[in-house]
This record gives sequence, C-alpha cells and structure tokens, in this order.
Amino acid sequence: MSKKIAIIGMGKMGEAIAQGLMQSSLGSQYKITGTTKSDHSANEVRSRLKIECTTNNASAISNADLVFIAVKPHQVQEILKANPLNKNQLLVSICAAITTEQLSDWSGGKAAVIRTMPNTPCLIKSGVTAICKGPRCTNEQLSTVEKIFGELGKVTTLEESLFDGVTGLSGCGPAYVYLMIEALSEAGVKVGISRKQATLLAAQTMMGAAKMVLERNEHPAALKDEVTTPAGCTVDGLMALEEGRLRVTLIKAVLAATNRSKKMGK
Ligand SMILES: NC(=O)c1ccc[n+]([C@@H]2O[C@H](COP(=O)([O-])OP(=O)(O)OC[C@H]3O[C@@H](n4cnc5c(N)ncnc54)[C@H](OP(=O)(O)O)[C@@H]3O)[C@@H](O)[C@H]2O)c1
Repeated sequence: MSKKIAIIGMGKMGEAIAQGLMQSSLGSQYKITGTTKSDHSANEVRSRLKIECTTNNASAISNADLVFIAVKPHQVQEILKANPLNKNQLLVSICAAITTEQLSDWSGGKAAVIRTMPNTPCLIKSGVTAICKGPRCTNEQLSTVEKIFGELGKVTTLEESLFDGVTGLSGCGPAYVYLMIEALSEAGVKVGISRKQATLLAAQTMMGAAKMVLERNEHPAALKDEVTTPAGCTVDGLMALEEGRLRVTLIKAVLAATNRSKKMGK
C-alpha cells in the first residue's frame, strides 16, 4: 500500500520534491497531496503536476504518513501549531533557520523530525541536500528521506550545528555561481563572443570544472595546477583574480549568509 505524503507549501522547492518523487522509481510508493496558501496556486499546481493540491493544511497533514514543510520560515510555527502531528508521523522540514527542537515543539512533540537544506538545482535533479536527524527519528526514517532527496541530486548527513553554514554555502550558493557565470559571460562579450555563445562557454566550463572536482576526487588546487602552464595564459588570469580578492570575497559571502541564517533563527 502506498504511503501518503503531504507537501505543505508547493512553491519552488515543494514542487521540486514532488516532481523528483513522481519521476523516480519511488513514485509508485507514495501518494502526494500538496497545499498552498491561495486557491489560484493550488489550481495551477493541480493542472501542472496532476496531483491533488488544496489550501487545506489540516486535512493534508492529518492524513499523511510523511509531512514535508516547505513554506517560508516565518510561516512554519503558525501552521504546525494549528496542526499537531501524531507519533506515527514523520515531519521533514526544508526551511532555513528552523531547528529540529522548534519543529518538534511546534508540531506537538510526538512526531519524528528530520531537518534538511536542499537547493534549487534539485529542480533538475542536480541539487545537494544536507540532512540531520531530529527528535524521535529512527535510522530507517533517515534512510527513507535520504532516498527521497537522493532522487533530486546528492545527499550528505551533517550535524545540525552546521546547518546555518550549509544554508550560507549550498542553500544560497547557486546565486553566487549564477553571478560568476554572468560575469564570465560578460567577459566573453567584451572579447567579442556573442552573448549566447559566451553564456554557453561560461556555464559549461563551470559545470565541467565542478564535475572534475566531484568525479576525480582531487583537491581543487591540484586541478587548477593542471590548467596552469608555466608562463602561460591561465596564470595571468589567476593573478587578476587574486588582485580582485575573489577567494576572500567568496568566503565573506558564505559567512554573511551564514550569519543572516543564524539571526533568522533567533
Ligand atoms: N529557494 C531556495 O533556494 C531554497 C533552498 C533551500 C531551502 N529553501 C526553503 O524552502 C522553503 C520554501 O522556499 P521556496 O523558495 O520554495 O518558497 P516559495 O516558492 O515562495 O513557495 C512558498 C509556498 O508556500 C505556500 N504557502 C504560504 N503560506 C502557506 C500556508 N499557510 N499553507 C500552505 N502553503 C502556504 C505558498 O503558496 P501561495 O503560492 O499560495 O502563496 C507557496 O506555494 C523556505 O523555508 C526556504 O527557507 C529554499
């Protein structure tokens, strides 16, 4: 018999989870019901995804074995307090800055809890999701949720104390990378390449380099050395990046977003 999943908040991330599950081999094991705030959004989700979607959180939550909470962080408390979960249910949050302790308290202190931090490339199955266990969560429940997010990209289990850092790094990270691709593409235009081709060259270079790091499992500095011929062109480019303090700027970006996540949690 299929398990019932409620996805509370069918926005970008809620939809990514629903799509990923439906298109995966796990699809037949789950029946998904989504919820939104407005009837308009619920209608759109129903016609686009062909799944049940309503504005009725109470009914979706009370009927589910597994409840994903995917609304904006400031909306979580009110929704959970109005809809306590029971001891047979599993609550999975994807919300930035909300701790497993808060999730447990707000949902009535009976359900098992898991906290995750995915990112938007989950929409195309190239995301990365950090996961941690909360109160009452069993290893079996953790492995179920790892499998679900495994359908949307890579998964890694981390201590909860590191989650603000994860938010600052991989949660917000796609935005930093888009900025870098945009800048590289701009450079291509500056040297005479068409915008379309410059964006292709920049984005595919970014993806190829990322794949080299993941698949070769080598330190990025060793891979950088492979590209850097003595007295060649790359070293001049690298010098310009060092002058522009690219590395420290990226580190500061992650720290700023991490601190913001910490403040949101308070
Ligand atoms: N975006 C990211 O890159 C990212 C990455 C990792 C984690 N997250 C986390 O994911 C969560 C959702 O982010 P998002 O970017 O997917 O947000 P989003 O696109 O703005 O979607 C929010 C969804 O929540 C629904 N909603 C609002 N109030 C509700 C209520 N009372 N009951 C049921 N549904 C309600 C909205 O419905 P309407 O359309 O009707 O308003 C909408 O479907 C956030 O907590 C964020 O921290 C986001």
